[in-house]
Amino acid sequence: MKKLGKVGAVLALTLSMTLLGACSSNNGGNTAADAGKTDSAATKAPAADATKEAKDITLGFSQVGAESGWRSANTKSIQDSAKEAGYTLKFSDAQQKQENQIKALRSFIQQKVDVISFSPVVESGWDTVLKEAKAAGIPVVLTDRAVDSKDTSLYVTFLGSDFVEEGRKAGKWLTEQYKDASEDINIVELQGTTGSAPANDRMAGFAETIKDNPHLKVIASQTGDFTRAKGKEVMQAFLKANKDIDVLYAHNDDMALGAIQAIEAAGLKPGQDIKIISVDAVKDGMQAASEGKINFIVECNPLLGPQLMQVVKDVVDGKPVEARIVTEETTFTSEQAKEALPSRQY
Ligand code: AHR
Repeated sequence: MKKLGKVGAVLALTLSMTLLGACSSNNGGNTAADAGKTDSAATKAPAADATKEAKDITLGFSQVGAESGWRSANTKSIQDSAKEAGYTLKFSDAQQKQENQIKALRSFIQQKVDVISFSPVVESGWDTVLKEAKAAGIPVVLTDRAVDSKDTSLYVTFLGSDFVEEGRKAGKWLTEQYKDASEDINIVELQGTTGSAPANDRMAGFAETIKDNPHLKVIASQTGDFTRAKGKEVMQAFLKANKDIDVLYAHNDDMALGAIQAIEAAGLKPGQDIKIISVDAVKDGMQAASEGKINFIVECNPLLGPQLMQVVKDVVDGKPVEARIVTEETTFTSEQAKEALPSRQY
């Protein structure tokens, strides 16, 4: 091996340090990107600034809107947890519009926040702005909802529920209820916001689970945008168009609660004449379940604030973060809802 000499040795040292730096400080990381976001064992190692104290951390958070009880509980959890952690929170409400979220993300980039987090209103169309965040060296944490970007190095992690599994839980309960059915069971479905991860995934998980029973038939499926008002409006239309509805599957409690008003106005008994399954398990939904108006609720936990603040700290400190953090959730029958209701936090 040739001798390097003094200048050569310094150059070689500089080069090897640069290479090492490039491997460990990938800012939003790509170590887990190769493994894909569904690999829960994979971790990403974001850029480190371990010297930052909590009071110096600024988190930019773009919320979907205020469309449901779930969303209000989620907003409160994030705001309370940021306060408790001592971070500065820049909070922006997108009012269910992707363009507002993109504007908010760009404004966070301009303000040079330490970490950006957001709950994407829809799954597609984020690559450009995520690349801008990456170029600015600002790590992005997805909470609650995912994006469909192929390049998973554009965000550090996705913290939230497994929506496909939630749909499966709803479908499994229904399949069990009607396992001995000898006639067709007519199901209507109230979908969440078109193009959103929970609407896509809850529909897919449900369809996958009921497909083996040919009597379980989805006769109508339409968006109710996750709101009570739309849930009521669409259910009214379903009732008008279909004489014989056996089951309503609503992608959230708010739409189920709106639909209950429509069902009662039509002179029918929710939970009896029409069986109802919904998702979320917020207080109002649990109240309706405890009264027998909703038969089964799949829980979707909105209290993501404490976990998000921990992830933000880890990201700022340059600690490895799991590429996918799945929230733990349960289900409630009417009886179980009655028991759980008094201690329900949201
Ligand atoms: O993304 C979570 C979903 O969004 C909740 O189930 C729904 O209520 C909300 O609006």
